[in-house]
Amino acid sequence: MATKTITRETVKIEKNGDGITWLYLNRPEKRNAMSPTLHREMAEAIDELATDPETLVLVVTGAGKAFCAGQDIALNFRGRETATPAENRRNRANSASWRWDKLVTFPKPTIAMVNGFCFGGAFTPLCACDYAIAADEAIFGLSEVNWGILPGGIVSWNVVQMMNYRDAIYYGTTGDTFDGKQAKQMGLVTLHYPLEQLRDETIKFAKKMMEKSPAAVRYTKEAIRAVRFMNEPQAEDYLNAKSDALKHVDKENGRQEGMRQFLDEKSYRPGLGHFKRKKKEG
Ligand code: COA
Repeated sequence: MATKTITRETVKIEKNGDGITWLYLNRPEKRNAMSPTLHREMAEAIDELATDPETLVLVVTGAGKAFCAGQDIALNFRGRETATPAENRRNRANSASWRWDKLVTFPKPTIAMVNGFCFGGAFTPLCACDYAIAADEAIFGLSEVNWGILPGGIVSWNVVQMMNYRDAIYYGTTGDTFDGKQAKQMGLVTLHYPLEQLRDETIKFAKKMMEKSPAAVRYTKEAIRAVRFMNEPQAEDYLNAKSDALKHVDKENGRQEGMRQFLDEKSYRPGLGHFKRKKKEG
């Protein structure tokens, strides 16, 4: 299938017919710094892709040599001083919604592919995605302290959850940069590769996730996220209810199929791989 590309002012969507949708922050000349237009267009794009049958895995990445240089300091910070209260309110809502709520609740696997600079406000979508795959050469930084502010929005909350406490305080207060390998050591990213292999490895990983039951993957990621802030009895109750719900929403009936293929057909080992799916669409 031919590549389909949809280009908006600050966002680009690319599909190659393999189920992977590439959502680019597309202001390479500004290192993909997030402007009010970008916030609005990302919010709209993610909503569209959430129910798009051609999108089985979403990859969020940056055009050019940056993943994202954080909030656009001119348009979001200085711009706020001259915008109307209504414009500021709308922008704040768009900025918060796509970077966290819309990504973290996206019903299909999401990958942040960190191809280069990743600063400040970019840590929120980075942490919202289910997986982050970074170039070894990527440069990460909580640079806010370098220009006299703190990691706001929910960035400080994101980093203290993803990174260990010492690293969160250290990098938050020094603004020192770190690379993709260090990001992996801190728990901030899932995988890292040399930049030249980044896209191919991301495709490989996305394809692996597409082989699994979409319902099981979705419910598992939702469950892991939800139980994080629960105590043990709440988690047990929630997970029982979630497991029951999964039986009803799983169009492929994976539970029965998995048991049939393992116990009756003896055609696979669930400990070592997934059952053979009948239909591949999400
Ligand atoms: N806000 C607004 N504009 C930004 C920006 C940001 N966060 N990051 C980069 N830009 C703009 C630059 O002003 C420059 O614009 P110009 O061409 O009109 O002068 C353009 O993007 C290219 O940036 P430049 O600094 O020349 O690129 P570089 O490759 O040498 O350096 C960075 C890239 C990301 C290291 C550097 O731009 C930078 O430090 N940006 C700020 C990062 C930051 O602190 N973000 C946190 C915000 S919460």
